[in-house]
Amino acid sequence: MINKKIFITRKIPEYVTTALQKKGCTVVVYEKNKPMNTKVLIKHLQKNTYDAVICLLTDRITAEVFDAAPSVRLYVNYATGFDNIDIPAAHARSIAVANAPTNASSQAVAQHTIALLLALTNRIVEADTFTKNGKYQGWEPLAFLGTSIANKEFGLIGAGRIGVQVAQYARGLGFSVRYYDTIRQSELEESCNAIRVESLEQLLSTADVLSLHVPLTAQTKHLIDTKAFSFMKPTSFLINTARGPVVQEEALIEALKAKKIAGAALDVFEYEPIIAKALRKMSSVILTPHIASATVEAREEMAHSVVETVIDFFEGNNPRTLLL
Ligand code: GLV
Repeated sequence: MINKKIFITRKIPEYVTTALQKKGCTVVVYEKNKPMNTKVLIKHLQKNTYDAVICLLTDRITAEVFDAAPSVRLYVNYATGFDNIDIPAAHARSIAVANAPTNASSQAVAQHTIALLLALTNRIVEADTFTKNGKYQGWEPLAFLGTSIANKEFGLIGAGRIGVQVAQYARGLGFSVRYYDTIRQSELEESCNAIRVESLEQLLSTADVLSLHVPLTAQTKHLIDTKAFSFMKPTSFLINTARGPVVQEEALIEALKAKKIAGAALDVFEYEPIIAKALRKMSSVILTPHIASATVEAREEMAHSVVETVIDFFEGNNPRTLLL
């Protein structure tokens, strides 16, 4: 028994509540099915003396939140990314922060990345809209010409757990893989014949597909900007299933308009949930609403991960998900 008071900022799999209740916890879930803004979050946290908060990537967990709820010793993000939490401010107050990376979510993001890639090369979304709109009049030799993936190069930025899984799928499809990461990944080099490049420019200038798998940090914000697009091939595709601000959205729009790249598939956006109108109008762009990790399997594994983190933390065992 841990007998703690836990606040969850939005409905997540029921398992989390029932598993924590079995450990003697009182669990309160924010009743509205929408993101909490910081003011509302603070108001709710101040209604009780919570010990832990299970939060989402849509919550901004700032120093103001920490100070408003001094009883909370642990914040667990129900996500892999954690750029929504001010980690230095938490550490300065000896507040623990954890995330919920799982094999199932890495696999889900990799699967979504490949789905977007093939949707781009085969113009699936455009063709689907055309067909459903009753425009199909019969086979045409030059209709919806796509791009072959044979003998093409897959450029990976970020070779962490998700990046490695994406590379393995890309390799399975016949791509040659080159990657850019500050850390060398020997396992990736062995399993995928992947080649590490020394500079981002080296990757940009040869990649047929450029896929982003880095966390959002001060170093990766706007990693793909006007200069980066100037190195890319006009036949190349950009895929972003990482975090929106890794790509400078305005530069992307300009690059697409000027045909500096052939197309883009985006699951995340610089100003999400706001999406630039220009992106919504381009047929060379495929958009999904931040669902890359949204498989049943991933959400279930994430639920198990956050429960394990809360229990381990309050039982005095070091949770494997703690962000130090
Ligand atoms: C999703 O974007 C996640 O970080 O889990």
